[in-house]
Amino acid sequence: MNTRDLSANEPYVPGRGVEEVARDLGAEPEDLVKLSSNENPFGPSPKAVEAARAAAEAAHVYPKAAHTDLTEALADEWGVSPAQVWVSPGADGALDYLARATLEPGDGVLVPEPGFAYYPMSARYHHGTVAEYPVAPADGFAQTADAVLDAYDGERIVYVTSPHNPAGTELPREELVALLEGVDEETLVVADEAYGEYTETPSAAGLLDEYENVAVTRTFSKAYGLAGLRVGYALVPEAWADAYARVNTPFAANAVALDAALAALDDDEHVERTVEAARWAREHVASELDAPTVESAGNFVLAEVGDGAAVAERARERGVIVRDTSSFGLPEHVRISCGTEAETREAVATLNEVLADLDPDLDLGAEA
Ligand SMILES: Cc1ncc(COP(=O)(O)O)c(C=O)c1O
Repeated sequence: MNTRDLSANEPYVPGRGVEEVARDLGAEPEDLVKLSSNENPFGPSPKAVEAARAAAEAAHVYPKAAHTDLTEALADEWGVSPAQVWVSPGADGALDYLARATLEPGDGVLVPEPGFAYYPMSARYHHGTVAEYPVAPADGFAQTADAVLDAYDGERIVYVTSPHNPAGTELPREELVALLEGVDEETLVVADEAYGEYTETPSAAGLLDEYENVAVTRTFSKAYGLAGLRVGYALVPEAWADAYARVNTPFAANAVALDAALAALDDDEHVERTVEAARWAREHVASELDAPTVESAGNFVLAEVGDGAAVAERARERGVIVRDTSSFGLPEHVRISCGTEAETREAVATLNEVLADLDPDLDLGAEA
């Protein structure tokens, strides 16, 4: 026998791990600067590490109280009922739960192009069909309700990402409202805020009271530094109170992750430090890199470098790992995650050397 026809399911292409690259180069992982997966350069909050250690001691028990505790803390944080908080294994897990809760076989979803690869993957896993709306390089990757609505054809889910991955642009609040007003009542707008902590724009969670067709996804992978533990959540409409129990994979968010997330949520200082460092780093990249960049509200910057694969490869040979964005359909760009100050300075200096090597005519004046 065989699987069902999976030919439309594109495999996810992650940024390469630091150990893999170190092995290729015969280097030590700590000698490399890895700015390819939008991870937190400061690691997890020490409080989260302590909580994870303690939780590991009780890893033989299914996560029940830990799940309730995190759900309640998040409900409190966002001013919603616990039933509106769908804790999941990463925000990816939350995307799956939303697809499971809404899609009938053959239902359509609308995704940004370029955009985060897991939206179409999750929709296809749930027997949905996929159409795209443009987040166009020619418009500076600006996000507008009109661009989405022009492509919209009554899909069951519309995904928006703010800040957008990989561009870093935002969907302004008034545009999100125009989108919610413009789609059918039976269309769920998923506002993916994986990078929401890095922007001052208020969360779409504030619209849950007013609109019945919006859900928000968030993660502990980025500003909270827990990417390896896989914990995220969706905030869903009030009317969906009983749906979580019908769609979630039992105990999918593990006890160590749940306790670590709860502790991380309580460490504002760690998040503030992380966000401040990212703001500095994205300004440094924008002002010092010898290539045009897109203004970013996330913890990364998209830069137009010509041949993205060649630039990423040559930087890698010099110990700096950035994301070649070919898999996003952007072969002329690379995405540089915000590192510590030292990492970011090193990455920019290395990329500038690479750019100069590849194009000796490049004018290295920053103001040029
Ligand atoms: C836009 C966007 N959404 C969701 C996710 C998934 O995050 P998680 O690690 O919580 O699954 C990512 C991860 O890179 C992302 O960039």
